[in-house]
Amino acid sequence: MNIAMLGSGFIARFYADSLQAQRAKDKLISVYSRNIEKAQKFADDYKLGFFSDSMDEVVSRADVDVVVISLPNNLHEAAVACCAKFKKHVLCTKPLGRNAAEAKRMLDMVEKAGILGGYLEDLCYTPKNLKAIKAVKDGNIGKVLWAKSREAHPGPHSDWFWDHEQSGGGAMVDLGCHCVEIARNYIGKEIRPVEVMCWAATQVHPIKAEDSGIGLVKYANGAIGQFEVSWCFRGGMDLRDEVMGTEGTIWLNNFLRTGFEMFSTGKGGYVAEKAESSSGWLFPVGDEVHELGYTNMFTDMFNAIESDSQPMETFYDGYIVNAILDACYVSAKSRKWEPVQLDVWRGDQTDDYGSNFNSYDDDHYLIKTEILPNGEHKLILKHKVTGEVTAKNI
Ligand SMILES: NC(=O)c1ccc[n+]([C@@H]2O[C@H](COP(=O)([O-])OP(=O)(O)OC[C@H]3O[C@@H](n4cnc5c(N)ncnc54)[C@H](O)[C@@H]3O)[C@@H](O)[C@H]2O)c1
Repeated sequence: MNIAMLGSGFIARFYADSLQAQRAKDKLISVYSRNIEKAQKFADDYKLGFFSDSMDEVVSRADVDVVVISLPNNLHEAAVACCAKFKKHVLCTKPLGRNAAEAKRMLDMVEKAGILGGYLEDLCYTPKNLKAIKAVKDGNIGKVLWAKSREAHPGPHSDWFWDHEQSGGGAMVDLGCHCVEIARNYIGKEIRPVEVMCWAATQVHPIKAEDSGIGLVKYANGAIGQFEVSWCFRGGMDLRDEVMGTEGTIWLNNFLRTGFEMFSTGKGGYVAEKAESSSGWLFPVGDEVHELGYTNMFTDMFNAIESDSQPMETFYDGYIVNAILDACYVSAKSRKWEPVQLDVWRGDQTDDYGSNFNSYDDDHYLIKTEILPNGEHKLILKHKVTGEVTAKNI
């Protein structure tokens, strides 16, 4: 497949590095940037045959099969409209929209045009998350009760992120979009997000948007998703996930301190994304584009286009994420649980997911089994009718 890149900034380079990392059959062939010198520099760096400062010109070319959107959040919708106009499959970076209304329009556009809309949610594709999501699907940790995802770093690298109008919000829309979707993957994308409770604050930076936020997302089956995001965290990029199930637990650290530690007096340069220092003890990352999920993500996207199927992360998922975040912004203001408003819901319609209680026998629930330091082994039971709680030695 031949790929055109829209944008030549930070994420465009990460994507290009990942697309060109291996001897891939999918080739980046062209780039659009509003600044022609930057377009040319990007084309030179990645040896692309075509560059332009006209989006229409890049997207409409006959040799382009797929377009990757790497533009600021406020430009995603117009770029998707351009791809729909020229009927080119489109892969859009996160967040899909600045809000659910924008995301819904983008979803409608790709569906009407009959093109694939892939949502470039890389952190769901980290090698660790992919393996952990499979472990959950295979039943290793039972039913997921709680999925927590944290992304915190010292703040974004470009001016437009800090401008509410262009970005649509602060750390919540920028980083929370990753965390919400990671939790959905663990809890089950077919389970409807019902309501949210959120705290958001502007703790450090002189901006209109929030630079920190914590949110709870309640799902129809009783599971809870939790996100913690911040642009105030010092010391690099903290990407951690925790999943608690009825039969097990998963803890993941995707980035900092993952087994590669280096000391430097500071003679070198780049260490890893958002690393704040290049001296002292440092935590580089082996293959950054792979460990951040970009490689697996693009493989899934191109496989889906080739086989006329859907990737793991679609525009529909991007829309659900935006809708959850919209509700979080409302809750942060109202300081109440707020409903997630979904115009389209394609998952389970069930309201009653049954109980998580384990039966011990016809009359009792099993609350807990316990082995004490003296070797005593006992069961704590609850009578199903009387509610009496008793202990039974075994
Ligand atoms: N992990 C991730 O998935 C990840 C990481 C970083 C950024 N992103 C997303 O990628 C997108 C771009 O972010 P970035 O970090 O590359 O930003 P950036 O500022 O580094 O690059 C933005 C690009 O858009 C261009 N641009 C800016 N304003 C424009 C305008 N008015 N018209 C045309 N082009 C314009 C810039 O010239 C540049 O090429 C955002 O949606 C961001 O949320 C995703």
